[in-house]
Amino acid sequence: MGSLRAIPSLASGGNDRWSRDSSSTNEQSSSETGNPTPLGGSSIGRVRLEFPPDFLWGTAAAAHQVEGDNRNSDWWAWEQHPDSPLTEPSGSAIEHYQRYADDIALLAGLDLPVYRFSTEWARIEPSEGVFDPEAIAHYRDMAEAVRNAGMTPMVTLNHFTLPVWLAARGGWVAREAPALLARYSTKVAEELGDLVDWYCTINEPGNVAFGGYLGALDWPPGTKTLAAWDAAIDGLRAGMVTSRAAVKEARPEAKVGATHAMIEWEYNDAARPLVEYLRTQLEDRFLDASAEDDFIGVQTYTRIAVNAPGIAAPLTRALVGSASVRKTVLPRLIRFAIRMGERGMPNTRTTDMGYEYRPGAIAATVRRAHELYPDKDILVTEHGIATTTDEERIEFIRDGLSALHALLADGVPLRGYLHWSAFDNFEWALGYGMRFGLIDVDRSTQVRTPKPSARYLGDIARDNALEI
Ligand code: BGC
Repeated sequence: MGSLRAIPSLASGGNDRWSRDSSSTNEQSSSETGNPTPLGGSSIGRVRLEFPPDFLWGTAAAAHQVEGDNRNSDWWAWEQHPDSPLTEPSGSAIEHYQRYADDIALLAGLDLPVYRFSTEWARIEPSEGVFDPEAIAHYRDMAEAVRNAGMTPMVTLNHFTLPVWLAARGGWVAREAPALLARYSTKVAEELGDLVDWYCTINEPGNVAFGGYLGALDWPPGTKTLAAWDAAIDGLRAGMVTSRAAVKEARPEAKVGATHAMIEWEYNDAARPLVEYLRTQLEDRFLDASAEDDFIGVQTYTRIAVNAPGIAAPLTRALVGSASVRKTVLPRLIRFAIRMGERGMPNTRTTDMGYEYRPGAIAATVRRAHELYPDKDILVTEHGIATTTDEERIEFIRDGLSALHALLADGVPLRGYLHWSAFDNFEWALGYGMRFGLIDVDRSTQVRTPKPSARYLGDIARDNALEI
């Protein structure tokens, strides 16, 4: 397992430094079932949860969501299409491409020391095999600015978007896609050289395949077949491996891993075959391809509970058991289920994305990643909430972190927590209405204003402890 150091003595019974007060353990927080709980108040009875000394704290963003004018990418083309299913185009986004220096200074001032950002393949390699020195210099400058601010850059090589020339060849179903990703990864790792020690290869490959190739999330390229889904899964799995190998070859000392979308799944027996099939396609096939990664990046936003009536058991078994039924019925069923899900869940507190409000879901998924890879370090590379009520974001961070903290006492080698997202940004199919940022961005003026949640997380990072 790579060069990451395991957190010392977490599992030792005598060291209760990471354990929590018995009054504040694992049960579902009352805040997950009802209204936001009040924050602040007296410190009497408070518990201080300390994190390991070298715990990584920070935030994450992705090029297309913040930079603006990403004109050579498949997402830009998808946005411009007359029949685009997207809410709105990304346009100039939050002009991070121009404003990155001030943005990084702002993050440094907030004591959020790790900045995970992505390099944009479509800018770096605007035509096949031709690398743009200006784009490369730009990302070097960014990495340098992060380091000069005393922070740590973490670079994602592929966060959803592809250059249009690759999309024209089928994107992830093109046989040569993994080798092309590797060539670009080599270039980035060589050019960013000694500035970057942490690389994420492909971001959420499961969602890329599901969202774009099965057509479940209205993402490009918009194919809607099981065959395209399977082919994209194969391409992405191979891409994870070739990209990691390319970076390790160029920078053997770098820590490299994919970042996985994981959901806290709950299901009854009747739903089991269906959910297990879905989880395999969405998560396990990719987790499997991370076997040689230095770390597992876990990204979780919610829980999905599927309880089918007993009478449906033979149906769900048949659905996943027969290739022909699967081919015709399953894609439609999944798209239907997503549309139903988007209509909201009665009696459940939800986020602006329509997800169940479930900050502690991240602990369930980190635990699962740990069970699959007991010896690997784990990083939470995304965790966040779309809400216009910042107090709710604070509550989400607090409850997510306290659930994660409980894992440390169990010896789970959790190395860090990066919040999604640093800034309000372009939320893919749903546009700018979704507010994930710790820092508010007024797009009419491009003025940035840190929200209280940014200071809240910055204080936790500085203290390396959470008070609840
Ligand atoms: C993605 C981000 C996205 C976030 C919130 C993750 O799936 O990596 O790009 O904005 O979730 O939906």
